Amino acid sequence: MSVNLRDYIASVPDFPEKGVTFRDISPLMADGVAYAQATDEIAAYAKKLGVEMIVGPEARGFIVGCPVAYKMGIGFAPARKKGKLPRPTVSASYGLEYGQSTLYLHQDAIKPGQRVLVTDDLLATGGTIAATIELVEALGGIVVGTAFLIELKDLKGRDKIKNYDMLALMDF
Ligand code: PRP
Ligand code: HPA
Repeated sequence: MSVNLRDYIASVPDFPEKGVTFRDISPLMADGVAYAQATDEIAAYAKKLGVEMIVGPEARGFIVGCPVAYKMGIGFAPARKKGKLPRPTVSASYGLEYGQSTLYLHQDAIKPGQRVLVTDDLLATGGTIAATIELVEALGGIVVGTAFLIELKDLKGRDKIKNYDMLALMDF
């Protein structure tokens, strides 16, 4: 029997600022059944695509990607923020509401031709996932799919990744 994953998302008004409703995945992660179900659904999607490696951006991309990698018996590579990765990296910058940010991936994280799934908890404007895709492709990886727990439809992040297959378990 499956649960309704939407019941495990807390909608928090006026966070981090007035007028924004924050979709908090903590209750989903805190529930073993819901977290396993979300993991299994993404792993089934990844298996269908023949995924060989998973990449997710810091920090919440790890929460989604790592259990899927474990379930599939494949590896996970973290795309991290500035100053965190100790060995040679590639980098990609993306726009935030105010200013810019950069993500980094170890140069040996992906083998050329490897079939990669990119994961994150939530798709908003799409900047984070587009930068993560750029990193994978800079190393010769093939992004065969993207997977999220949540898509925030109004922010149209899907438009930034329209050339890629995408799974979102819920939308708001
Ligand atoms: C949040 C979220 C996604 C991203 C979505 O991460 O976890 O990674 O924003 O927004 P976008 O589609 O507009 O790029 P955040 O940058 O807050 O970092 P965190 O995961 O470290 O909290
Ligand atoms: N929830 C969590 N992370 C986010 C959100 C949200 O509603 N919007 C942008 N990043």
